Amino acid sequence: MTVVLNSADLTLRPWEVCDATALVALADDEELRRWTSHRVADQEDAVRRITAQGVGWVTRERLSFAVLAHGQVAGHIVLKRQGGAGTVAEIGYWTSAPARGLGLASQAVEMLTSWAFDTAEGEGLARPELIHNVGNPASCRVADKTGYALEAVLPPRPPHPLEGHLHVRERAAIPSV
Ligand SMILES: CC(C)(COP(=O)(O)OP(=O)(O)OC[C@H]1O[C@@H](n2cnc3c(N)ncnc32)[C@H](O)[C@@H]1OP(=O)(O)O)[C@@H](O)C(=O)NCCC(=O)NCCS
Repeated sequence: MTVVLNSADLTLRPWEVCDATALVALADDEELRRWTSHRVADQEDAVRRITAQGVGWVTRERLSFAVLAHGQVAGHIVLKRQGGAGTVAEIGYWTSAPARGLGLASQAVEMLTSWAFDTAEGEGLARPELIHNVGNPASCRVADKTGYALEAVLPPRPPHPLEGHLHVRERAAIPSV
């Protein structure tokens, strides 16, 4: 079953091979390189990466979505859950440079978190986590707006020379997005 999440502004749907050209273009971004391990060499690499996302859906360990605004790919969001089950999962995301500051990441995080809490797909999930580098205040703000409370400061660990923030969302948290 293909999962598609819709709001008034956004659509979250699994990545499709036809998104490869957009993925290549969006990956050419300094902020993405700075704060994520997301790298796309070329069109062929993009197709390979998109195809690999399908495996995550089969194992339920990596539920990844393209984020579409006005019908265009404008970001990515993923829920990673070891073994495809358990109480803990980690959410990750990025948005395209032109789409930043418009609330896309926050809305996508809220949509995915609500879906995971409220559907059988997320059965047993109790504490989704969001981890970002302390030098990334935009991501910290996304966490705050979506009810992911700061729980711990993580020590630097290779390849990250700076500390990290561990944010956790409880089911009862009230987001401001
Ligand atoms: C982090 C990121 C996903 C945020 O995406 P976005 O779509 O711009 O997020 P939103 O618009 O929902 O919220 C961003 C918030 O951060 C704020 N912000 C942006 N830059 C900031 C800065 N330098 N200092 C403080 N706040 C900042 C924005 O003002 C906004 O808050 P507001 O709604 O209160 O005004 C995006 O910047 C990105 O893709 N960065 C590169 C990849 C990355 O860092 N991914 C996350 C790794 S943990």
